[in-house]
Amino acid sequence: MSVKHIGFIMDGNGRWAQAHGLSRAEGYAYGLMALRKVAKRCEERGVEAVSVYAFSTENIERPSEEINAIFEVVKKFNLTYDGKFKICYMGDFSTLPDKLADSIESVEERTADNEGMTLNIAFNYGGRADILHAAKIAYDHGEFVEDTFEKHLGSSRLPDLDMIVRTGGEMRLSNFMLYEAAYAELFFLEKLWPDMQESDVDELLDAFEKRTRKFGK
Ligand code: IPE
Ligand code: IPE
Ligand code: MG
Repeated sequence: MSVKHIGFIMDGNGRWAQAHGLSRAEGYAYGLMALRKVAKRCEERGVEAVSVYAFSTENIERPSEEINAIFEVVKKFNLTYDGKFKICYMGDFSTLPDKLADSIESVEERTADNEGMTLNIAFNYGGRADILHAAKIAYDHGEFVEDTFEKHLGSSRLPDLDMIVRTGGEMRLSNFMLYEAAYAELFFLEKLWPDMQESDVDELLDAFEKRTRKFGK
C-alpha cells in the first residue's frame, strides 16, 4: 500500500523558538529547514505529493510582526527555490501583499515543468473556505457530484490524501484539508515541527503500513 499524498500540519514553530531562546521569526526559518528535509525524504520514499499547512486564514489574527516574519520566509523561499519539486500553492492570495503574491506566481511558473514530487503549500488557506469556493463554482455549473466537485478544490490536481500528520502535540485539524481528510489516516506527533528529521518520515511511513484502511467496507 503505497502512500501517494501526505499532508503535514507544521505546528510548533513558535514553541520551538521559545524553547531555544530564539524569536518566533527564527522559529519559522528553522521550520523551513525541517520542511526541506521532510519533503526530500518523502520524495526519496516515492511519495508523489506533499501538502503542507504553512499559514491558515485564521493566522492573520496574529501580531503583525509575526505575520511579516512568516511572509518574508515564504517570499525568500519562492524567489530562491531552485530544486526539482513542482511547487504549487492553494489558498486566497488576493489579500496578500503584492510582492508575496508575485513570488508565489513566479515559483509556480518556474517549477511547473519539474518532474519531481509536488510540494503543495497551503497558504492563507482554510478548508471551509476552499469547500465553499468549490461549491459556488459547482453551483454555477449546475453539477453536484463528487467527481466534478473535487475538481474545484485547491488540491484538485493531486492524488487522494492518504495521511495527515500534525506535529506539536495538538490533536485537531485546525481547518486543514477538511474535505480531503475524509479517509486519510491521522498521525499526531508530540515533536515540534523544526525538530522533524528524515527518520521521522520513515517511522511515519512504516506506521502507515501497519494501519488497516477499510473505507467503510
Ligand atoms: C505553526 O506554528 C505555523 C504557523 C502558524 C505559521 P505555530 O506558530 O503555531 O507554532 P506554535 O504552535 O505557536 O508553537
Ligand atoms: C495550524 O496551526 C496552522 C498551521 C500549522 C499553519 P495553529 O497553531 O494556527 O492552530 P491552532 O490555533 O493551534 O488550532
Ligand atoms: Mg500553533
